[in-house]
Amino acid sequence: MSELTRFGVSLEESLLEKFDRSIERKGYKNRSEAIRDLIRDQLVSEEWEHSERETVGVYSLVYDHHHGDLNKTLNHIQHNHLQVIVSSTHIHIDHHNCLEVIILRGKSDIIKKISDELGATRGVKHGKLIMTSTGSDLD
Ligand code: NI
Repeated sequence: MSELTRFGVSLEESLLEKFDRSIERKGYKNRSEAIRDLIRDQLVSEEWEHSERETVGVYSLVYDHHHGDLNKTLNHIQHNHLQVIVSSTHIHIDHHNCLEVIILRGKSDIIKKISDELGATRGVKHGKLIMTSTGSDLD
């Protein structure tokens, strides 16, 4: 970790009060840690904007396994992207519904494309991609 630096920020008092209330609700002990997290979140967003950068994503989807060939189709898509899909977990939520959580590592545009393909498959009830980071640029 690199050395700590202090810097001053000027902003409206009312905005600062709202920020303080917000970070208190979230359980931050001080502004510094909350601001560090905001900066890191911004950096992760930028990583995802650059298609050549390696990123990590978590895609979750909920679907009814009785729906046609859905199981087969979702499996097929995943087998087509072995290099990017690191791991997947399948949970049987109830008689109909399954939850699948897939961890992907690779270029952001490819991760988005695979996620879109999975989510757009007929019968998928809900799909959501969490765009996160390998962490190498966040210190
Ligand atoms: Ni299942």
